[in-house]
Amino acid sequence: MNLSHKKILLGLTGGIAAYKVADLCRQLIKAGAEVRVVMTNGAKAFITPLTMQALSGNPVHDDLLDPNAEAAMGHIELAKWADLIVVAPASADFIARATAGMADDLLATLCVATSKPIALVPAMNQQMWANKATQANIQTVAKRGFHIWGPASGEQACGDVGLGRMIEPVEIAEKIDEFFNHKPLKNQHWVITAGPTVEKIDPVRFLTNRSSGKMGYSIAQAAANLGAKVTLVSGPVNLDTPNGVKRIMVRSASEMLKVVESATEKADVFVACAAVSDYRAKEASEQKMKKQGDDGLVLELEQNPDILKWVASHRNCYAVGFAAETQNVSDYAQAKMKRKAIQMICANDVSRSDIGFASDQNELKVFYQNNGELEMVSLGPELKSLLAFELVELINKVK
Ligand code: C5P
Repeated sequence: MNLSHKKILLGLTGGIAAYKVADLCRQLIKAGAEVRVVMTNGAKAFITPLTMQALSGNPVHDDLLDPNAEAAMGHIELAKWADLIVVAPASADFIARATAGMADDLLATLCVATSKPIALVPAMNQQMWANKATQANIQTVAKRGFHIWGPASGEQACGDVGLGRMIEPVEIAEKIDEFFNHKPLKNQHWVITAGPTVEKIDPVRFLTNRSSGKMGYSIAQAAANLGAKVTLVSGPVNLDTPNGVKRIMVRSASEMLKVVESATEKADVFVACAAVSDYRAKEASEQKMKKQGDDGLVLELEQNPDILKWVASHRNCYAVGFAAETQNVSDYAQAKMKRKAIQMICANDVSRSDIGFASDQNELKVFYQNNGELEMVSLGPELKSLLAFELVELINKVK
């Protein structure tokens, strides 16, 4: 289990299972996480803040209205600090307050004030768990995107037997690990092209386009985060190499094709996100071209190789293309999918200034084959970094 640099806000509410959370805290720290603990008044009746402070290595937060505590790390700061909020044990009362969006103590307020994921680990008497109000609350927060971990069934502190026991600390730790280290693309090799190509005319002039590379780089980062081995073949751009990605820089379409040919030999997925120049100078001049009198200049161009088409016909991987169009986006995209014999195409409308080229946002219409049928899903508009995750998960699902 590796949780290094992960910031976990551990919220304790009133329940006998609170004592078990001391062990969870120890396991999270051992796995490298940074842990801050928030306790309700109910929790403090079962376990002391001093224990949780000693185990987490940080002062425990327990008061919404304490000016000193607010000056040190206020509730809004805490809500932003966390990568994940885990409430364990989550009592029936706390679940009800979180469902209602109450902000009557520090922990409930944090749940209202955060945009980060929240996991509830219920722990209560079986009758309280089975109660219709509790069940309705759980369904409501689950629909809102809360993770609900447990409860388990078994003997309870009060002597009852049934559903309501908190799952064990080791299982909670496993859920947290899975949350952060979900690697569905493990053992897959993804090759992604990104950015523009640059086609030489003479030593100081070239043909290129406005591609920023952001979409391709975001896809590379998302695939790497989800566990894939990623080779990013990139034209000249102003972006850092995404974490955990092997980047190979190229300039022209011919160079890009050469690198892609060898990189895709054992690839599972090829995503052609690069804006490859359609044409290049038929003969690039070795010397700087001189102005020839007052007449215009005719530059003879020839077509570049189609990298995506080459991969689709020579390699056994799932090939995904992009179609940047300014009109009839859907029709052109589908025609392109047929012409290049690829399994998926992501169409975007580059005539819009708010999305697409050079923007941080994008909106895609994704067409793909599913059991012989053509299907379409719309993704976005949203940040390219978020869109990339959705696209990578879609590719992995339908490939
Ligand atoms: O043919 P068109 O340029 O519109 O197709 C766009 C798609 O094909 C993109 O996925 C792009 O990366 C890819 N492509 C390519 N090699 C080319 C031209 C386009 O891989 N020479």
